[in-house]
Amino acid sequence: MTLCEYRPGLEGIPATQSSISFVDGQAGKLEYRGINIEDLAHHSSFLETAYLLIWGTLPSQPELDAFEHQIRYHRRLKYRIRDMMKCFPESGHPMDALQACAAALGLFYSRRALDNPVYIQKAVVRLLAKIPTMVAAFQLMRKGNDPVQPRDDLDYAANFLYMLNEQQPDPLAARIFDICLILHAEHTINASTFSAMVTASTLTDPYAVVASAVGTLAGPLHGGANEEVLEMLQNIGSVENVRPFVDRCIEQKSKIMGFGHRVYKVKDPRATILQKLAEQLFEKFGQDHYYAIALEMEQAVSEKLGHKGIYPNVDFYSGLVYRKLGIPTDLFTPVFAIARVAGWLAHWKEQLGENRIFRPTQVYTGERGQPYVNLSNRPHTWDQQKFQISLSS
Ligand code: CMC
Repeated sequence: MTLCEYRPGLEGIPATQSSISFVDGQAGKLEYRGINIEDLAHHSSFLETAYLLIWGTLPSQPELDAFEHQIRYHRRLKYRIRDMMKCFPESGHPMDALQACAAALGLFYSRRALDNPVYIQKAVVRLLAKIPTMVAAFQLMRKGNDPVQPRDDLDYAANFLYMLNEQQPDPLAARIFDICLILHAEHTINASTFSAMVTASTLTDPYAVVASAVGTLAGPLHGGANEEVLEMLQNIGSVENVRPFVDRCIEQKSKIMGFGHRVYKVKDPRATILQKLAEQLFEKFGQDHYYAIALEMEQAVSEKLGHKGIYPNVDFYSGLVYRKLGIPTDLFTPVFAIARVAGWLAHWKEQLGENRIFRPTQVYTGERGQPYVNLSNRPHTWDQQKFQISLSS
């Protein structure tokens, strides 16, 4: 085997073979199991899409009915999980709460039987069913309220909005949220999916797999960007401030949140759909002050950075949609996670078929053969930049 050159961020290096999704970054195309994302957004539901991703084909009516029934049945949380959540600080980030809760599921359902299709099916159902309940429960608990129990008569998206806002959502709002979940469900081997796959490759349990992926999704270069986009629009404040802001970012070489992508060199197809969904919501429920700022940002960034292939990614317009749906800013990434669980589990299941532990190599840049120097013989100096003791934190 010939050794490859070191590529920071593994750019362009295949780490797996997969038949789950396909991205054409030059043409701005995304397909799940060969089906165009636009068609899925138009015709499918999130749970049908999750089934497609995980089991490889669109379900028949009886298969879909059974899958939806199972999910409804498993939505509730054990009281011990709810009690554990009560101990979380209100100021904690909901992504941290979600990561802890996903990992805690492993305490309750720890029997690993990765060669048993029933175990796999139950784990898929539990994770898809319980993650939305966890996100909504933490939101209510941090406001000092009891969590709202799921409602069996509501579908997946409507039930989540109901548990979050404590009222049954408008049907258009619920449908738009369901489409958002479809759009975020899967995206080839991105950072969190890779994290899930590395964890899964040790043959640990699926709850640990999802917990590790949640932790990876949280970062601002990945799923956390949607939260930062809204904060950025709020800080910019007005359309007139957009171009000076963009110029400043370019001058200071700082990243503009919601723009750019390792694979897409044109506008992300999901951003195009999300923008249309935002417009539908504004038409029915009223305009959003930040939309005009977002439009001006897209224009200005495309003019200045389009030659580098920097255009809006999935995180740019999603926050404006979520805001209209009554979702608080720091829940944007947990909502992304609710959807992406489908993709993580699809990759987990696919990888179990032909698993090999991930164990890449490295290019060592350190010294070798150094002597061990006794403490008494080392210089009596203190490099404050390396390590500073502070008793206050
Ligand atoms: N704003 C300004 N310049 C940018 C941006 C941006 N958002 N993204 C990339 N560039 C420039 C970058 O400065 C570099 O320029 P140069 O070649 O002159 O040094 C060039 O484009 C390549 O950038 P890179 O950082 O090497 O690209 P990457 O593939 O490593 O990073 C990215 C991809 C998504 C992390 C990056 O575009 C970024 O940080 N974007 C902002 C954060 C964001 O919106 N993240 C969400 C990503 S999409 C959804 C998801 O993955 O969850």
